Amino acid sequence: MSGAVPWGLRCVDCGAGHPGDEVRYRCGCGGTLDVEHDLEAARAALSPETFDRRLGERSPLSRSGVWRFRELVLPLDEEHVVTRLEGGTPLYDAPRVAAWAGLDALLLKHEGENPTGSFKDRGMTVGVSMARRLGMTRVACASTGNTSASMASYAATAGMEAIVFIPAGQIAYGKLAQALAYGARTLQVAGDFDDAMRLVERVCAERGVYLLNSVNPFRIEGQKAIAFEILQDLGWEVPDWIVLPGGNLGNSSALHKALAELHALGWIARLPRIAVVQAAGANPLYTAWKGGAELVPVEGARTLATAIKIGNPVSWKKIRRGLGGGGGVVEEVTDQEIMDAKAVVDAAGIGAEPASCATVAGVRKLVAQGVIRADERVCGVLTGHLLKDPDATLGYHRGELEGIVSTHANAPVRVGAGLEEVLRHL
Ligand code: F0G
Repeated sequence: MSGAVPWGLRCVDCGAGHPGDEVRYRCGCGGTLDVEHDLEAARAALSPETFDRRLGERSPLSRSGVWRFRELVLPLDEEHVVTRLEGGTPLYDAPRVAAWAGLDALLLKHEGENPTGSFKDRGMTVGVSMARRLGMTRVACASTGNTSASMASYAATAGMEAIVFIPAGQIAYGKLAQALAYGARTLQVAGDFDDAMRLVERVCAERGVYLLNSVNPFRIEGQKAIAFEILQDLGWEVPDWIVLPGGNLGNSSALHKALAELHALGWIARLPRIAVVQAAGANPLYTAWKGGAELVPVEGARTLATAIKIGNPVSWKKIRRGLGGGGGVVEEVTDQEIMDAKAVVDAAGIGAEPASCATVAGVRKLVAQGVIRADERVCGVLTGHLLKDPDATLGYHRGELEGIVSTHANAPVRVGAGLEEVLRHL
């Protein structure tokens, strides 16, 4: 399958080009890298129908919601591909959540319904496949939990050794449990995510371990498939808005890159507007965007949405570029707003982890401000599964989360084992 659409790497800062078949995450100038596809060749060889046809095919590459779009992701040889048939996630129509947010309708793309319960699987299948292609046997990442869970699973699938760096005591239990269960060597760093990120880059450089954070440009290529799949789900009709949470800002950068490529190919007539939602206690992009200034890292980031508790995001230059031309916005939401939105998403029968629900809290806020109109077509991305963080859910419904009012609490009821008593409670 290789060769159809040529590609290479290009520096986001200085524009220098680099070949794709070497271990490299940054340019010599320190800038992050983009995978650049030859879109002329893609236009000649492909069309949306190419990808629609694959929906009916049985091969693993076509059943994966990432490799289905392989020519625009990374044209690797099939022998290198490590897949768990990720993607193919539902796009839910969520009328009750829409009503709460003040919209006529709301679509929710549930990326938590991937093999390890988060959108990270889309990037990880590509990152680990590239590791295999490059002959690497050890992979590592710093993580707020989901990246490490995903990497541990894909590394185990590929027979590679996985090393994860997590901030001690600051990740949700479901995610820690996954990293351990999938067999990753798990280092709980006495510091926050930003400390863990600094460490892992240095360890990888010194020990020849392959780095699988989203600074790795191939991770971003896989995550682009969220956008490809949303468009495919919608019959290639463009929604007005796509809304998603922002932490390290890899996913929002991937979303923008995918949309820009589809637009350049002429497969979509216009770009949807992107809204990136940050937690108010971890909001460096929001502050920079509001002030029209350079990003200043937030020291000691704080939020209950531990997945996006990041003060110094790696991919901020990529998303700043993405927000520039297309009418993109950045919003911030408090933990109270996140947890109330989560209660509404959960009670609709859909469910998601706290960071995901920053999406819905952000939609509600942007509708209230008149930025999003009630009749616009809005697609929100839910990034992680409800079961990732049972403590947050139970804490909310039991009224035990510090500083949070449990507006929509559904507290458990203790009863004796007698029928009379049970009936009295119903
Ligand atoms: N939502 C969830 C559930 C996440 O796990 C993350 C990031 C994000 C949103 C934000 O995405 O970083 O691309 O802006 N989690 C990373 C991790 C940092 O280590 O699992 P982003």
